[in-house]
Amino acid sequence: MCGIIGYVGLRDAVPIIVQGLKKLEYRGYDSAGIAVWGGNGFDIVKQKGRLNVLEERLRDCTIKGNIGIGHTRWATHGEPSDTNSHPHVGSRSKIAIVHNGIIENYKQLKELLEHKGAVFASQTDSEVIAQLAEYYYNGDLLETVIHVSNALEGSYALGVMSLDHPDTLIAIKKDNPLIIGVSDHGNFIASDVPAVLQHTNKVYYLNDKEITVLQRNGVEFYNINREPLQKTAETISWSADSAEKGGWEHFMLKEIVEQPKVLRETVSSVVNPGNNREVIDKIDITKFNKIAAVACGSAYNAGVVGKYVIEKLCRIPVDVELASEFRYKDAIIDEKTLVILISQSGETADTIAAMREARSKGAVCLSIVNVTGSTIAKESDFCVYTAAGPEIAVATTKAFSAQLAVLYGLAIHFALQAGELSPAGAKGFLAELEALPEKTEHILGQIDLVQKHASECVGCKSIFFIGRNIDYAIALEGSLKLKEISYIHSEAYAGGELKHGTISLIEEDTLVVAIANCPRLHGKIMSNIEQVISRGAKVLLIGNVPQAVQDDKLSVIALPPSTELFSPSLSAIVLQLFAYYVAANKGLDIDKPRNLAKSVTVE
Ligand code: F6R
Repeated sequence: MCGIIGYVGLRDAVPIIVQGLKKLEYRGYDSAGIAVWGGNGFDIVKQKGRLNVLEERLRDCTIKGNIGIGHTRWATHGEPSDTNSHPHVGSRSKIAIVHNGIIENYKQLKELLEHKGAVFASQTDSEVIAQLAEYYYNGDLLETVIHVSNALEGSYALGVMSLDHPDTLIAIKKDNPLIIGVSDHGNFIASDVPAVLQHTNKVYYLNDKEITVLQRNGVEFYNINREPLQKTAETISWSADSAEKGGWEHFMLKEIVEQPKVLRETVSSVVNPGNNREVIDKIDITKFNKIAAVACGSAYNAGVVGKYVIEKLCRIPVDVELASEFRYKDAIIDEKTLVILISQSGETADTIAAMREARSKGAVCLSIVNVTGSTIAKESDFCVYTAAGPEIAVATTKAFSAQLAVLYGLAIHFALQAGELSPAGAKGFLAELEALPEKTEHILGQIDLVQKHASECVGCKSIFFIGRNIDYAIALEGSLKLKEISYIHSEAYAGGELKHGTISLIEEDTLVVAIANCPRLHGKIMSNIEQVISRGAKVLLIGNVPQAVQDDKLSVIALPPSTELFSPSLSAIVLQLFAYYVAANKGLDIDKPRNLAKSVTVE
C-alpha cells in the first residue's frame, strides 16, 4: 500500500516522478504528492484524490528541480486529505520524506517530539519520521537516517531529502519493498520496478535495514552500522511496454487477454529445464507428511484449488490457511510440513508474517511469487516464480492463473515422487497442463458471449456462485472477483451447502452462477440448479454439462473439454471476464476499485 518514488539526476525530476507515480498508483490512490528541491527550498505540491488531480495542480505551477520524491497514498492513519498527503516535512521544513508502511510506535514518538517543541501538521504516523529526522539531524544525513531507523518500530520504505544536501537522496526499508534503479541520466528509488522501467532495467533490491545514498553520479549502500555494502544490480527482463495499457481500455482486460502467453511461459518454466524446474526438483515431497498452503485473497483461492489437486494426485493432506489467521493461531506445523506461500506481490504483510512464523517452527517454505526479489521470494527456502509479468490492475487475473499453473506443475511432480502417479499417468496430466494456453485462447474467443451475459446483470443486488468439489474452489474466486470490482454483493457456496441456510436468500430473479465441471457430480449440481430455479433464481451455468435442464431461467457458457482437475483454469477466465464486463457496464473504475490497493503491506 502506498507507492514511493525518488529521483536524483540530470533531468527535471517533476515529470519523471509523476510518470513513476502513474505506475505505482495501483498501490493506493487516496492522495498523491511530490517534493522537489527547487533552489531555495522544497517545493511541495500534494493533493487529496487521484494522481490526475495532482497533475492538474502541477500544470498551474512551475516547480522544477533535479532531485525529488513522490508518493501515492492508501490512507491508514488520518483520513485522505491534502494535509495528510505525503511528502511530509519536519517543523523546520529542513527534511522531507515519503513513507510506505506503518509506524507502530508513532504515538510515543509524537508525544516525545511535541514535548521537544515539534509542531505536527497532520494526523499521519508518517509525519513522525520527518519530525524525528529533524530532531536528530546534526548535518550528517546518513547518520540521521540510521538514528531514525533505530527509533522506529513497524514497517517502512523511506525516501529522505534534506535542504542542506540538495544533491543527495537517502533510502531505507524494513518490511516494505524498495528498489534502487540506476540509469545514465540519474538514479531512482521506487516501491516497484514498473515505476523506473522507462529509464532503466538495472535495479538493486534492498534488504531490510540496508541504506542507499543516491547522487546523480552513483549509488552507495550501507548497513545499519554504516559499513559499506557491495550489492549486485539485477537486470529486469520485463519491457517498459509490459507495464503500459497499450490501447486497452483497462489494464484488467489487457491482463485477462494476456493469459495464454502467461500460461505458456509459466507452464514451460515448471515443465522444462530452467530456474523454476531446478527449484522444484530440489523439493523431496516424501520428507513431508502434510502441506499447508498459506495466502490471502485470490492467492488463498488459488491455494484452495491447489488443495483439491494436490490431495487428489498426491494423497497428501493439504490445509489451506488465510495468512492473517495462520500467523496468530499457533499452527501445528514442524519440519515435516511443507508450507506453500502464494503471493503475486511477494510483499503481503500477513503472508510474510505467516512465512516467518512457519520458518520459526522449522517448516520448509516454498513460495509461488510473481515479483522478482520480493521479500517472500527472498526469505522463503524455495521460490518458484510465476511468469505473469507486471500486473497493474488491482484485481488479479493473470497472476492468479499463473499460480494455478505452478500448483498443477507441483502436484504432478509431487505425485510422481510419492509414487502416486506413474510416468505414463504423469504424461497425461502434463499434456492437460500444456493444453491450457490453447483452451484459454478458445475461451477468449467467446468474449462477446460473456459480455452479453454480464450486461444483463448490471442491476443485480446480489449474485451467488455455486459449485461442488473443485468447482466450489473456483467459485470462491469468481465471487471475489465480481464483488471487488463491481461492488455487487456476492457469496460463493458449495452447492451441497445451499439448503443449509443460503437458499433463503434466493428471491425472484436472483442470479446464481453455477460452475459445473465435475462429471461425477453433474447430477448433484443440476439438482441444486433446479432447486434455486424453482425458487425464482436465474442461473448462469459455466462448464460442460451435456444434458442441462431446459429452462428460460438457465443460460450456459460452455467451456472446452477438460478433466475436472484442470477445469478451474478455464472457469477462471470466464469468471474474470464476467466480473470485468459487469463492472464495465456499470462504468466503474475497474483498475482501481474503491478502498483497495494491490499490494497489501499492512495488517
Ligand atoms: C484480488 C486480489 C487480492 C490479492 C491478495 C494477495 O483480486 O488481487 O485478493 O490476491 O491481496 O495479494 P498477493 O498475491 O500480492 O499476496
